[in-house]
Amino acid sequence: MVALSTLSTPAFVVDFDRALANCERMGAKAARSGVLFRPHVKTHKTIELARMQGGGEPGPITVSTMAEAEFFASAGFTDLTYAVPIAPEKLDRAAGLARRIDRLNLLLDHVDTLRAMEAFATAHGGSFDVFLKVDCGYGRAGVDPGSPGSVELARALAGSPFVRFRGLLTHAGHSYHARSREEIESVAAEETSSLSRFASRLGLEGITALVRSVGSTPTASVVDAFVDCDEVRPGNYVFYDAMQASIGSCGWDECAATVVSTVLGVYPAQNKLVIDAGALALSKDPGAEHIMPDLGFGRVCDLELRPLPMKLVALSQEHGRIECSSAGGVAVGDRLRIIPNHSCLTAALFDRYSVVRAGAIVDEWHPVRCW
Ligand SMILES: Cc1ncc(COP(=O)(O)O)c(C=O)c1O
Repeated sequence: MVALSTLSTPAFVVDFDRALANCERMGAKAARSGVLFRPHVKTHKTIELARMQGGGEPGPITVSTMAEAEFFASAGFTDLTYAVPIAPEKLDRAAGLARRIDRLNLLLDHVDTLRAMEAFATAHGGSFDVFLKVDCGYGRAGVDPGSPGSVELARALAGSPFVRFRGLLTHAGHSYHARSREEIESVAAEETSSLSRFASRLGLEGITALVRSVGSTPTASVVDAFVDCDEVRPGNYVFYDAMQASIGSCGWDECAATVVSTVLGVYPAQNKLVIDAGALALSKDPGAEHIMPDLGFGRVCDLELRPLPMKLVALSQEHGRIECSSAGGVAVGDRLRIIPNHSCLTAALFDRYSVVRAGAIVDEWHPVRCW
């Protein structure tokens, strides 16, 4: 039996049973709600977990890079949404991939992107499946559904011979600013109602049959059922993390991804430890510092995931500095396990994941990287 204590550190560890339970719970909620489940795979970027999200099958998925799209297509996933507004320079690559699979939905929120698609299709033939990105309050990307410009762009999409206007897509990233489950619930209501109101408005223009696609892990986790939408796309829920546990999306015992680290230095006079997990093993995401300022750069635990009275206060490239009330009981070479603040960013720093079941390493998975 290969144990966690033998891993070369820092190491990214996936708890198989926790990830499986997270996948089954979210998949069952979508099935019960009668909506299409199109989970995001950007958190883990592995074939194994994408299949787990689909109940063992290569089901519909959402991706965040063209590299992911190509990787998953090569592994038999045939129904993809690339959920970042497409850069015109990537249309060639997208068109090539779309020819190989059943469906590649692309995203836009600007008329110039539509014009670039039309110019591409005029020059090379073919057409694109497109979702209009809508801002439901996050303020990152997407059209303001209350603005006249959003209706105009929808009209242009519906009227273009070069696109099939498939639906409206939003991501409630502002759910991460919530301070409680109740606040997440109110963002979840805003996420769906803003799309439904916009879809009704477009219905008055004769633009109908649009898929209403929503999805963020906080909102998807707190609702009892998915209502007022047609498709859901959560992704982080596979691993969850310290951020999600802090804002109330999950329990700490549902966090499925951790970083195993080795103690490099013990400084009892300063109540300080140094570990080999720095910013390149954890990312510098501050997590839920708006409600848990004492958490630091991740929750510090022992190898059995029992939380320790320690705070990971600073990260440089390869060092993590921990403050604790007493460094006396810790020795150089000891191992600690960190629940990261943001598992998506942390996972992206590793080229392999060690998969653990009942304390033993049972597998190693390899994510796709880059763009
Ligand atoms: C467009 C889009 N859809 C879905 C998701 C999944 O959200 P989460 O990571 O909260 O599960 C994201 C995450 O950034 C996203 O950008």
